[in-house]
Amino acid sequence: MAQKCPDIQFTVVDTDAKRIAAWKSSSLPVYEPGLDKIVESRRGVNLHFSADIDSAIYKADIVLIAVNTPTLAQPNNSISNGLAAALDLTGIEECARRIAQVARHSKIVIEKSTVPCKTGDFISNILDRYGHPGVMFDVLSNPEFLSEGTAIQDLLEPDRVIIGGKRGTEHAQKALASIYAQWVSTDRIVTMDLWSAELAKLASNAILAQRVSSINAISALCEATGANISDVARGCSMDSRIGSQFLRPSIGFGGSCFHKDVASLVWLCESLGLYEVGKYWQQVLRINEYQKTRFVTRMAQVVDGGLLNKRIACLGFAYKGGTRDTRNTPAATICSALLEHGAQLSIYDPKVPGQSIIEHLKEPQNMPAETIAASSIASPFSPVFSAHDTTTSNVHICTSVYEAIANAHVVAVLTAWEEFQNIDWYRVSKLACNPAYVFDGQLVVKDPAALKGLGLHVIAIGSPA
Ligand code: UGA
Repeated sequence: MAQKCPDIQFTVVDTDAKRIAAWKSSSLPVYEPGLDKIVESRRGVNLHFSADIDSAIYKADIVLIAVNTPTLAQPNNSISNGLAAALDLTGIEECARRIAQVARHSKIVIEKSTVPCKTGDFISNILDRYGHPGVMFDVLSNPEFLSEGTAIQDLLEPDRVIIGGKRGTEHAQKALASIYAQWVSTDRIVTMDLWSAELAKLASNAILAQRVSSINAISALCEATGANISDVARGCSMDSRIGSQFLRPSIGFGGSCFHKDVASLVWLCESLGLYEVGKYWQQVLRINEYQKTRFVTRMAQVVDGGLLNKRIACLGFAYKGGTRDTRNTPAATICSALLEHGAQLSIYDPKVPGQSIIEHLKEPQNMPAETIAASSIASPFSPVFSAHDTTTSNVHICTSVYEAIANAHVVAVLTAWEEFQNIDWYRVSKLACNPAYVFDGQLVVKDPAALKGLGLHVIAIGSPA
């Protein structure tokens, strides 16, 4: 925004002084392709980073709240095994209180964080109750639709910009729309009421997650029937009403948004007594867990002699290619399950630091028990204890694909990194054990038949073994 609106001064504030220091340095606290160049070009010009929160609020005409809204950790959330969850709005509440205390002139307050429907009212109530007399606040919802890895492009060429506000905030909506209009065509900027804007965000993520679960559910059917998942997906996607995006079969979706937002939607439905609607969305999460379970079970069934003491090269740990983010990554659940089978893991990811992988694998991976019970296949996940050493002593962090593959019995592709599409499979066939299996969880292998000629047995998501 700072790049596109040179006449506006932007100040980013955070309670974490270390993060602010990192934003001011050459090593930014997040990895996003192209971001460093943009930050460098605007920093100190019209983009500022500061730990002085009050001063920034005091001076601002518009305040964007972009704090995180994690899943609320409380016993109520365990009822549905993580498949329905309220969001923790503490960060939002603290921001609203702080704005109310500091502001001495009227401001537009924008909720940018993903929030449950009606959070705008919650913010308005706090601002009205604790604000100084005569200071007016217009609360708008302007949900974020950026994807990690393509955030810059998504912001520069958005499909839509949604601005929600209650009656009486039209001038504020116009003011925000005029900022976006500096680079977004006005027919893509839509205004609506506050609750619709909030719900549009949750619904968009839920529908995208539903598409991934839909194609993954069909992949199970393909494995059982011999149909080819890529052809089925192509056949569906050529219908212009369906379209081609988010129909890529995988080991399941991950990241900080999909699971959290669908679980939040389920919670919203349940809290409104809409249990059937809640169950419908919950099934999107169940299929996602089922997909991870199936991947490991299949491996344990297909690999001669099972997985005990087998060396498995795990390629990728991030929740998707193009990011080093590992929040809710399916790779963590799968690696933990493989350790429970007694396997030795050699893990390589081009961006995720080894320490972060190890820390993840030390955490218990929550696989909803009811999901496992519901699956007709035996669970590869021991409920509480494992007979095998599940400590990270059986995990080796590698610095290249080929280091990970050396002496491996199994290659498991867990993240769709571009690099994995260009693997030299001839080299793999020389480095890996013979015979070796390639479990392709992200469909990166373009020509499985060619690999067969090299003695590598490819078992891809959505193809019969
Ligand atoms: C998602 C949405 O796509 C963004 O529009 C939204 O702004 C963002 O959440 C958010 O709420 O902040 P993101 O989580 O960054 O973005 O990543 P996606 O590209 O949506 O991928 C999510 C997961 O689905 C990844 O694990 C990815 O590998 C998986 N996926 C995606 C598939 O398995 N198959 C597909 O066809 C597409």
